[in-house]
Amino acid sequence: MREKDKNKVVSILNKADKKSGPFNHSVKFFYVDNKENQSGTIGTYGFIKNPPSFIGGVVENTAKGMIDFGYLFEEIILKLTEENLGTCWLGGTFTRSDFDIEHKSEEIIACVSPVGYEASSMSLREKVIRKVSNANNRKPFDALFFVGEKQKPVPKTHIYRKYLKAIQLAPSASNKQPWRVIIEDSVFHFYLKRTKGYGSSVNMDIQAIDMGIAINHLIFTLKEDEITYQFSEKIPYSFDGAEYILSVSVDGD
Ligand SMILES: Cc1cc2nc3c(=O)[nH]c(=O)nc-3n(C[C@H](O)[C@H](O)[C@H](O)COP(=O)(O)O)c2cc1C
Repeated sequence: MREKDKNKVVSILNKADKKSGPFNHSVKFFYVDNKENQSGTIGTYGFIKNPPSFIGGVVENTAKGMIDFGYLFEEIILKLTEENLGTCWLGGTFTRSDFDIEHKSEEIIACVSPVGYEASSMSLREKVIRKVSNANNRKPFDALFFVGEKQKPVPKTHIYRKYLKAIQLAPSASNKQPWRVIIEDSVFHFYLKRTKGYGSSVNMDIQAIDMGIAINHLIFTLKEDEITYQFSEKIPYSFDGAEYILSVSVDGD
């Protein structure tokens, strides 16, 4: 990887190391150069061909640890995307033992991502088109987001529609989109609707990672608009088949 880009990646990781997620876990992030060495390169996973480097993180292997991991790692991914570096979340299809990272028995390398340069054949226009097609492979608004205890559809003119859109675009493992949100005045209540039987082959709560990513998409967008917020756990309404996770209260002006 170009020295200049490597420095950018390492600096983003160093900042993230000092942060914690909504449930106060921090993550030990790492960067590895994928140089050809005696044991060969780390690997090629599907469409990812010989990436110059990988990043990843170690966190306590609990549901809340995973939420915090998803939250912090997605912030890194979004910052790398802003720097025009290519990434891809890998939680299932990589070999953990390829990464020689020391950690405690209650911790796990939750996910990794290659970091590199996207195939240069893709023009900016194609990237934009890809974004649009990504939006099309998400569940419709009315399946994900609701207003109030009666869980009514979100009106087209709702002031927080833009923030819900940012949540809708969040990536998730196998694109399962297990997040649901109920809006109550200026509070976003997040729920996790798990996919039955999904993820049992991985020794961690992979859909909790999805939850953290979705929460980050809200917070990232609020910060862009310089809107302040607070996390809270209130256990508001019950939601059939979904587990309450946490709420985000948006401060008024
Ligand atoms: C926690 C997590 C784990 C993932 N693990 C893998 C993986 O192991 N292999 C893979 O090819 N993609 C993986 N992905 C990528 C998802 O399949 C992808 O983000 C999702 O299908 C949505 O794709 P899109 O954002 O391009 O629309 C993972 C994504 C997340 C959020």
